[in-house]
Amino acid sequence: MVDTRTQPVSRAGVAAPRFTEKDLYGLAEKYGTPYFLIDEATLRRKVSEMEQGFSEFRGVFRVAYSVKANFNPSVIRTFASEGILFDLTAPSELTFVLKSGGSAGDVMYTSITETEAEYEEVLRTGVRKIVVASHNGLMNLIEAAVRTNVTVKTMVRVNPEVHVHAELRGSMGHGKFGLQFNGGSQDSAFSVLKKVLATPGLEFEGFHFHLGSQIEDPSCYAEAIEKLEAFILDARRQFGDFHVKTLDIGGGLPAPYGRKVPSPKDMGNKIVGQLNSLVESIGDRFTLVAESGRFLTAESTVMVSRVVNTKSFGEGKYVYVDAGYHVLLDSALLRHEYPVEVVPGGKPSPQKVVLVGRLCDPLDVFPTSVRSKLGGAEPGKLVVFRDVGAYSLVMNMPFHSQPRPYVLMRNGQGSYVVARKGQSVDRLYDEEGGDCLAAA
Ligand SMILES: Cc1ncc(COP(=O)(O)O)c(C=O)c1O
Repeated sequence: MVDTRTQPVSRAGVAAPRFTEKDLYGLAEKYGTPYFLIDEATLRRKVSEMEQGFSEFRGVFRVAYSVKANFNPSVIRTFASEGILFDLTAPSELTFVLKSGGSAGDVMYTSITETEAEYEEVLRTGVRKIVVASHNGLMNLIEAAVRTNVTVKTMVRVNPEVHVHAELRGSMGHGKFGLQFNGGSQDSAFSVLKKVLATPGLEFEGFHFHLGSQIEDPSCYAEAIEKLEAFILDARRQFGDFHVKTLDIGGGLPAPYGRKVPSPKDMGNKIVGQLNSLVESIGDRFTLVAESGRFLTAESTVMVSRVVNTKSFGEGKYVYVDAGYHVLLDSALLRHEYPVEVVPGGKPSPQKVVLVGRLCDPLDVFPTSVRSKLGGAEPGKLVVFRDVGAYSLVMNMPFHSQPRPYVLMRNGQGSYVVARKGQSVDRLYDEEGGDCLAAA
């Protein structure tokens, strides 16, 4: 008889990480459920898929990892060893990158808060490329540059105000991020660029935009590049010659989540020709940067939970697992479906199966469709959620006094290592204030 527990668990036609049932059950015994499991080889493969996608670009192309998607040190360490750049938003992220083997020289710092104190801190730590996105931010950067006595390679973040078909849109009229090209106010790309060019402590480096996350129609990039080209040519007529050394087209590459989505190659096919023409038309052989969080990390990771209860209702059955949206917040916020699989699987259930979490909250229902394989879900079996590496384990929260679960990694040698210790209930209790009521 075949021991099904040694069969690899996989998704048909998708090169997702494969873990054997034996390993998944073995890790569940040792570390408890739920737990996250990251595959290092998949992280590395995603970097090379991005590099291949833009291989026809005539200048230098650099991948940047957007650390906000997953700041686990093992993930950062893996990307640092690939020699890629890091897109950071806060000094605390910089600490994570430096402690995990990254270098300040490989950082593009794109803050939302843009305070003088944070600029001073990151400049003192060795960051030199900073993306500004407001007039106040620019003033703070100038002050920080004077105090630290360093020359800052300054990028201007624009909001190209193009329509984006995506779950999370970063570019739109009156959007939160980036500067409108024009509009007459001091918070326009035009005005900020003029000031950057005129400030001795700043060296103009280039432009940045970020259009959104999980972008499944790449035509918005083409539209944004077209608008940016017109802006550069116009600004040159007004300010004289300036050079674009870096163009950062932000994040947004989609993760599959069990469906077919455009690959980096598809995206490259759509825009690399246009980027090459931009090199010609502005006469600058700029470095092209694409920042990614979701694409680089989502597929690398599974979350393993256990069925703890079932209950029939009318035409269907509830399957309760010991996880909940407190460990998969991205799915709860976006209502998107992770591919889910019962391990070992059974025959497809004739009943409707509703997969629910352990939280006492009617919202704690996992979106599933026919793509999920929920047959054979009985207490004791494992339920594996795929593609959960982005914006999930970094958002774990202790709702219902639930400690943060273990994060494990299968490293390049195929061994399992602990990437984050699970929290004990006692530790959570202490961190929540515990017995001490210290004077404030
Ligand atoms: C400036 C910037 N770059 C890159 C990203 C990464 O986006 P994604 O994970 O969709 O690739 C984000 C996400 O919020 C962002 O704000």
